[in-house]
Amino acid sequence: MKSPSPESVKLLVTTVQELSLARDLDTVMKIVRTAARKLTGADGATFVLRDGDLCYYAEEDAISPLWKGSRFPMDICISGWAMLNRQPAVIEDIYADSRIPADAYRPTFVKSLAMVPIRTIDPIGAIGNYWAVQRQPTEDEVWLLQSLADITAVTMENVNVYAELEQRVKERTLQLEAINKELEAFSYSVSHDLRAPLRAIRSYTEILQEDHVGNLSDEGRRITNKIIKGATDMGLLIDHLLTFFKTDKKELAKTTIPMKTMVTDIVDTLKIPEKERNIEFHIGEMPDAKGDPSLIKQVWENLITNAVKYTGHKEKAVIEIGNHNNGKGNVYHVKDNGAGFNMQYYDKLFAVFQRLHTAEEFNGNGIGLATVQRIVHRHGGQIWAEGKPGEGASFFFTLPSF
Ligand SMILES: Nc1ncnc2c1ncn2[C@@H]1O[C@H](COP(=O)(O)OP(=O)(O)OP(=O)(O)O)[C@@H](O)[C@H]1O
Ligand SMILES: [Mg+2]
Repeated sequence: MKSPSPESVKLLVTTVQELSLARDLDTVMKIVRTAARKLTGADGATFVLRDGDLCYYAEEDAISPLWKGSRFPMDICISGWAMLNRQPAVIEDIYADSRIPADAYRPTFVKSLAMVPIRTIDPIGAIGNYWAVQRQPTEDEVWLLQSLADITAVTMENVNVYAELEQRVKERTLQLEAINKELEAFSYSVSHDLRAPLRAIRSYTEILQEDHVGNLSDEGRRITNKIIKGATDMGLLIDHLLTFFKTDKKELAKTTIPMKTMVTDIVDTLKIPEKERNIEFHIGEMPDAKGDPSLIKQVWENLITNAVKYTGHKEKAVIEIGNHNNGKGNVYHVKDNGAGFNMQYYDKLFAVFQRLHTAEEFNGNGIGLATVQRIVHRHGGQIWAEGKPGEGASFFFTLPSF
């Protein structure tokens, strides 16, 4: 019976582990050619791939060059013989064996060899071992080599499946991206084209109210008010949607942005019904950033108006705007003590039209944070948030400092 040395078995196990991590054929061949030589202590090893009717000597590890890069017809080389006969070829004296094309071996060091097929049913390649002194390869050596070839067969099949999957994922991603772009172009043009008829509805209703007020009952006036309100809300919604779409198209005009000044200006010009609200703003020192000022302004405006909006039910709102270093770099933040949100629905937070509060609690369209995320991502930054119902929310973003 076979009794390979513990070292060989150990090496076989290590090779299996290495192969299990391989994701492409090149890596597999490199691992196998080295392992094949080490396993038997041979003077050379080759990795041969079946290429139609040819044997392709794809890789080798040997004391001096063998046939790396060459192709030979299946029926005149020994790897072809092993593949066609689905069994090992074990040869003590290569020059005494009719299966060996002696001319191809004369320039080499080879005197003896063992060649095993990769995948005995329907071989896809072969692994060879070569010795510079004439000797009979042992049963153990052939067994070790065949075991390596069997593992290699499984690995090569896995690599193929993996490559196919990867290719399919790539194709699907491209398809999805194309569909997404098409959908977005469609939504953009629909939104854009809706503006004119909407303006007409609003203007005519206003004319009705102003010039024909005598013909309108109280109920008629109430209804026309509702139409104007509806048309105005829809107009704003469309404007926000168009802004969202445009953020992806706009060329970035990057400059240095004095973040603290920008934030202070926004807070100063916020249209907050100050008298009705008790809001305490804390604006910390902040390093300048590199970015497109008009877009970064939208980021701050959205985050700050959200903080103002979602603290609307608090006696006293405290909004803290600033930055900190999280160990990896600078992080800007907006923190509030408002309604907060449930982290369970975090996935929806930055998606278009998704809201974590009802219109009765807080009004809104759910486009603000989607726009913010797009802008931050376009700048190569990251954005995330934390929230707890009733206790407030914190929004964080980074911008690369190049
Ligand atoms: N500071 C905050 N505190 C609590 N919840 C927030 C906060 N900011 C955002 N949210 C939640 O995230 C959702 C999405 O925010 P987003 O700004 O995109 O939309 P919106 O404020 O509802 O509408 P708009 O499009 O007018 O900004 C909000 O509906 C709200 O549920
Ligand atoms: Mg908002």
